[in-house]
Amino acid sequence: MRERENVPITTVRDFWDSNPLFAGEGAGEPGTRPWFEQHERVLAADCLADERALSFVTQDVRKDACILDVGCGPGFWVRFFLRRGFQRVWACDLTPQAVRLTRTSLDIFGLRTEGTIQEGNAEQLPYEDATFDHVNCQGVIHHTPDTEQCVREFFRVLKPGGTVCFSVYYKNFILRHPALFRTVQRALSSLVGLKGRGREAMLRDAKNAEDMVRLL
Ligand SMILES: C[S@@+](CC[C@H](N)C(=O)[O-])C[C@H]1O[C@@H](n2cnc3c(N)ncnc32)[C@H](O)[C@@H]1O
Repeated sequence: MRERENVPITTVRDFWDSNPLFAGEGAGEPGTRPWFEQHERVLAADCLADERALSFVTQDVRKDACILDVGCGPGFWVRFFLRRGFQRVWACDLTPQAVRLTRTSLDIFGLRTEGTIQEGNAEQLPYEDATFDHVNCQGVIHHTPDTEQCVREFFRVLKPGGTVCFSVYYKNFILRHPALFRTVQRALSSLVGLKGRGREAMLRDAKNAEDMVRLL
């Protein structure tokens, strides 16, 4: 059994509720306009290469589609869809903090959705069968104890013929190898001075790449 599967969902929720994505790294106060704008810039620059690469996320999704964003965090993808003319966007996250941040961001940027933003566990989505045309879920299901159950839930809430776009972190060769993992861990510990999301504890305590990915 993998280490991640031994972690109770309440631990995952407590971790992300205390350390919402980008809450420690951002220069401004979380939940403010400059903070959301900085997060958008950082995400685009660090993770998404450039604007053209984003087109894969909306590929084949009709403008009138009912879209569900699972594990919405601070709401980047909810705003992303709404700004591109999709109006029927639902979102959920395990943590109340993420729900609050996402709702706040829609108010700040003057965005409206026909859907709701609510708490919800990807392993037990709070929606009826066959509700959505498209599920979006970026950088979430490797953090939760039962990743496979999340995928089953995506298919349960999708209408027949619906689509899903999800991403997980890539565990490369260096992190897979126990000795190299410890070397990288030591090197990062001496280099990474950023606060936020428990990075210090992660670098100190993670026993292997699986552990580290869950906390990252
Ligand atoms: C790395 S952040 C990604 C946020 C957002 N998807 C993005 O790409 O900006 C991971 C998010 O997943 C949420 N999360 C973790 N496990 C979850 C689960 N089982 N169900 C719903 N959300 C979960 C966390 O609360 C956190 O907000």
